[in-house]
Amino acid sequence: MNQSNHPIKLVVLEDPLATAKYVADLFCDAMTENTSCVLGLATGGTPVETYRELSERNRKETCDFSSVITFNLDEYIGLEPRHPQSFRRFMQDHLFDHVNINLINTHVPDGMADDVNEECARYENRIRDAGGIDLQLLGIGHNGHIAFNEPGSPADSRTRKVALTDETIEKNARFFDSVADVPREAITMGIGTIMEAKRIVLMATGEGKREAIRKMINGPRTPDSPASLLQDHANVTVVVDRAAAGELAK
Ligand code: GLP
Repeated sequence: MNQSNHPIKLVVLEDPLATAKYVADLFCDAMTENTSCVLGLATGGTPVETYRELSERNRKETCDFSSVITFNLDEYIGLEPRHPQSFRRFMQDHLFDHVNINLINTHVPDGMADDVNEECARYENRIRDAGGIDLQLLGIGHNGHIAFNEPGSPADSRTRKVALTDETIEKNARFFDSVADVPREAITMGIGTIMEAKRIVLMATGEGKREAIRKMINGPRTPDSPASLLQDHANVTVVVDRAAAGELAK
């Protein structure tokens, strides 16, 4: 049961596929309502099926990406865009290469920028120039991180260079040949940047995310659990399967 006094809407569905279809519906609705909407996109294992759904719907011409603008949450520092584990490559492989999006309208922070601070400021400006993010997709880390805002990230943080925690490096090592290959730093939108999105949809599946979701919804609002800071946003929908919901489903 949601006992906290905040407006987060919790949607509990049977399984991961149902969460993917639900979130794909929300994205298609946003694109239908405003054909040139600005979407915030996430990487990680969780949204893969959602991107597959969206690709399928685009193929069937039930959703149109032709005028859509996208901003990804984050990117590893030191990986070329073509690197198999870069988030730019992830987006190409899972979504952009399969839909009628104009690549000029897709934005991922440049992890190879000579001047990282300048790149972060440039990214913030691009979001602002696009009119802000209409619908932001988020996953959640086991430690409650959103994008790469690890525990301790301030509520007013902006796009910046961050060090990843050992826990996140170990969790993300499954995508690399070895843990030693995982970059130690990343560029990430800040909590403050994310909070400016007009609407936020956070998705999580599997028992491993249960505690992070419980703390986000029923825990205190604290930078120690970055996702809990979303309690202050007026339009957040959390879409989970039964395994991630645990007791919250009752
Ligand atoms: C990474 C990303 C996050 C993502 C998280 C969870 O650290 N930076 O944006 O939410 O992983 O990933 P997964 O969906 O694979 O559990």
